[in-house]
Amino acid sequence: MSYNLLKGKKGIIFGALDEKSIAWITAIKCFEEGAQIVLTNAPVAMRMGEINKLAEKVNAPVIPCDVSNAEDVDNLITKAMEHFGGGFDFILHSIGMSVNVRKGKHYTEIDYGFNLKTLEISSMSLHRVLATCMKKDAINDWGSVVALTYIAAQRVFPDYNEMADAKSLLESVARSFGYHYGVKKQVRINTISQSPTRTTAGSGVKGFDGFISYAEKMSPLGNASAEDCANYCVVMFSDMTKMVTMQNLFHDGGFSFTGVTQAVITQMEK
Ligand SMILES: NC(=O)c1ccc[n+]([C@@H]2O[C@H](COP(=O)([O-])OP(=O)(O)OC[C@H]3O[C@@H](n4cnc5c(N)ncnc54)[C@H](O)[C@@H]3O)[C@@H](O)[C@H]2O)c1
Repeated sequence: MSYNLLKGKKGIIFGALDEKSIAWITAIKCFEEGAQIVLTNAPVAMRMGEINKLAEKVNAPVIPCDVSNAEDVDNLITKAMEHFGGGFDFILHSIGMSVNVRKGKHYTEIDYGFNLKTLEISSMSLHRVLATCMKKDAINDWGSVVALTYIAAQRVFPDYNEMADAKSLLESVARSFGYHYGVKKQVRINTISQSPTRTTAGSGVKGFDGFISYAEKMSPLGNASAEDCANYCVVMFSDMTKMVTMQNLFHDGGFSFTGVTQAVITQMEK
């Protein structure tokens, strides 16, 4: 069911890799709610051609962009503005990549060169995108930017490895840039801290099966699905949340504020 929440709005969605991606589902929801979209992902991620299926479905152009490359980001924002005929209203930053996790490095033995790349892609890319948008005056007044994060930024989940640090930095960039873009153009910037979700990035976390079922048992409402997250993004892009900015918004079925649940106690007593 559509509520036309994004009627007349335009936005860029980063990070739709396949049908399971949170960005993929969010693009469909935004389209259904009346938005015009530009899709983007890293050129290597687009080789499989999956994103073209989504592009057809949501009637969007696809503009390749590796967020660690300044020229790519500049080109993306320029081309998106040409496509939209001016500024746009929202951005979804749905990007995460840990080089040390990929290389199987333990947190205590990470390679710092890899770590820089991880932070560049997963965290500082938000800064680069926002700085480029600000320079080009690309985001309209009262625009909304959402980046996806995880609670390992606040609490220790050992196997989340260096991505915990990357998410802390991402959340900090959202707050800091949220101040400056808010003062300058009333643009709001928030992070949504999502439950573990079965996607390519999610499944990269060591011991993911145990991890996701523990979270399910520890959340009064259960884990939030990718579809639930997409719905939350739509609301954050809409005019219904105009005064929310610089926040880290937990979207996790209550996990973040739960000490223990009966389900976990029962499991421990087995
Ligand atoms: N899946 C989970 O359990 C979970 C939980 C909380 C937060 N998140 C976050 O949600 C976001 C989306 O992840 P997802 O779970 O949908 O997985 P996903 O693997 O579908 O999406 C990650 C995306 O990042 C893109 N990416 C990687 N390097 C890039 C680069 N250099 N330039 C541009 N794009 C690049 C990938 O191509 C991919 O599309 C990530 O920030 C992730 O950390 C995921």
